[in-house]
Amino acid sequence: MGLVTLTEILKESVEKKYAVGAFDTLDDNFTEAIVAAAEEEGLPVILMVPNFFADIRDERQLSFYFNRLLDRCQRATVPVCLHLDHGNSFACCVKAIHGGCTSIMFDGSALPVEENMAITKELVRIAHSCGVSVEAEIGHVGSPEGGELEASDVDASQYTKPEDAKRFVEETGVDALAVAVGTVHGLFKGTPKIDTERLDRIRELVKIPLVLHGGSGLPESEFRAAIAHGINKINFFTGLSLAASGAIDAKLKEFHGKIHYIELINAAHEACKAAVKEQMRIFGTLPLDA
Ligand code: 13P
Repeated sequence: MGLVTLTEILKESVEKKYAVGAFDTLDDNFTEAIVAAAEEEGLPVILMVPNFFADIRDERQLSFYFNRLLDRCQRATVPVCLHLDHGNSFACCVKAIHGGCTSIMFDGSALPVEENMAITKELVRIAHSCGVSVEAEIGHVGSPEGGELEASDVDASQYTKPEDAKRFVEETGVDALAVAVGTVHGLFKGTPKIDTERLDRIRELVKIPLVLHGGSGLPESEFRAAIAHGINKINFFTGLSLAASGAIDAKLKEFHGKIHYIELINAAHEACKAAVKEQMRIFGTLPLDA
């Protein structure tokens, strides 16, 4: 099946009320674990490229980086969307399109709304003319400065306002919209609570797929609530990273540090794959055209 756009991979998710998992890859080991998990489950997956790829200045190194990702996606036996996560500038997004991403996210959520809208609109025009999908964010999903955030620290004044979401989608023509409804990126202490009333109102006003960032740390019941109230793509990274480092830590302890590096790589791979499969089950992801 191989590479598809975000629009294609999410095309049935709104009507059938399920979410597709979106997982950031750090290296070839993570890429293989994420795509292999999807293949073993026979389910679609969104493989996310973190924005730090844009720091690669050397053109040959950059095309090597993308060619490896593209090769794995094209060989996949299930639909895979190669998506830029948190494109933090116009240039970063254009570079990702040039590299071969089938979808980009422009994150202008920290900018004034009008500026976020203007840049998103221009990127939609460019991306759509290349057959690439666009996700953008209105409201702001924060990140802890270091350590863990408490549920009570989440800033509700940054949550997405439903009327802003409607206007943003109408004026920009984006394909998917990330909304702030109670999660944060990274480590979280306590239990995050999704603002389902707000989500219902956004879903009433916005017909395109909705995206939840900061999936790690959410209990299964909150994922299910988020999906029942309109979420169709869930970004999940910290949980994969912790699963991999936890598996390495366990191996090192078991063998008192006397273990070949390949065993650690394999342990991280298996842990990452298992974590992806577990999230897919919780998200209720369905095969395309099921
Ligand atoms: P977590 O690291 O909290 O899972 O968030 C990932 C994310 O939203 C990436 O865009």
